[in-house]
Amino acid sequence: MKIDGKAYRTIWPATDARAVEIIDQTKLPHEFAVARLETVEQAAVAITDMWVRGAPLIGATAAYGIALGMDADPSDAGLAAAHDRLLNTRPTAVNLHWALADMRETLAPLAPEARADAAWTRAGEIADADVTMNHAIGVHGLGLLRAIHQGKGEPEVLNVLTHCNAGWLATVDWGTALSPIYQAYEQGLPIHVWVDETRPRNQGASLTAWELGRHGVPHTVIADNAGGHLMQHGLVDACIVGTDRTTATGDVCNKIGTYLKALAAFDNGVPFYVALPSPTIDWTLDDGVKEIPIEQRAATEQSHISGVTADGRIETVRLTPEGSACANYAFDVTPARLVTALITERGSCDASRDGLLTLFPERSPKA
Ligand code: MRU
Repeated sequence: MKIDGKAYRTIWPATDARAVEIIDQTKLPHEFAVARLETVEQAAVAITDMWVRGAPLIGATAAYGIALGMDADPSDAGLAAAHDRLLNTRPTAVNLHWALADMRETLAPLAPEARADAAWTRAGEIADADVTMNHAIGVHGLGLLRAIHQGKGEPEVLNVLTHCNAGWLATVDWGTALSPIYQAYEQGLPIHVWVDETRPRNQGASLTAWELGRHGVPHTVIADNAGGHLMQHGLVDACIVGTDRTTATGDVCNKIGTYLKALAAFDNGVPFYVALPSPTIDWTLDDGVKEIPIEQRAATEQSHISGVTADGRIETVRLTPEGSACANYAFDVTPARLVTALITERGSCDASRDGLLTLFPERSPKA
């Protein structure tokens, strides 16, 4: 996507050395900064500390992290160490496991001296494939948005609610949930986005609002608790969110608070769509609530908040009383029964095993 007319991805190989450059998302929306990763350790820290975040981008960063590791030590032990360090960064997004398994399967059969070049090539392919899949999700999602808009009456504005950031900043490019929104906007559909602020890290208020604003898409930031009220008053035509892990039965795990939006949407007859590239599907799981590991992050993300002062300084201040405990569950699971449809790179389907297998028949036990 473009920032001030210049096309960017969220991650790219440096042109002057074997290094990777990323947009440092901890600084947005107040500062646009590019950071450089030169080692496995730096790639791991960038994921854990959320310089990069969002399931697909976590996967792509891990793939490039392996490439950095192969430059330093392409031995079997080096490959295993890089793999294990990156795997222990964030527990919920399955794209991380998928990308690391792919890199290991690609590199392990090769002679050590061939691994570094092969790793850079494969990481680039993983990043490019993410862009292609997300663009296709946008095309399929646009069809759904168009149908809702036509049902509403052509000149009316289409109001879509989203949670967290599942935009281009969460992927290599385009985004998942925001890809249909960008494509609707490009095609002249009158669209407006309700952006959940997404406490405690505020990915909605900081990142989704920033990227929609830079692209010119009309949007309004709302408190996390406002969505149900808006739905009761007919002000939301559809919800679209992303997912960090989708079970083979169509349960989806996404940023904390997604489940409550799905409940409100269900109660108000508002379609609730979940957009995902297929590496987000964990085909080994059946029950998202019981089986998906939920990341718990530092209490300080809850007890403190950062922002920019009137004179341009970034400051962090405490919100909660000294001594009050904070619990920071980062994700929750929305059961498949609350999801109207899953939107993938191959089209949309029911959130169910049968639905997913119609799009991915090669995953059928009979295939
Ligand atoms: O903790 P984050 O910012 O990595 O969480 C991101 C999300 O929850 C996104 O909605 C999800 O990764 C889908 S991204 C396309």
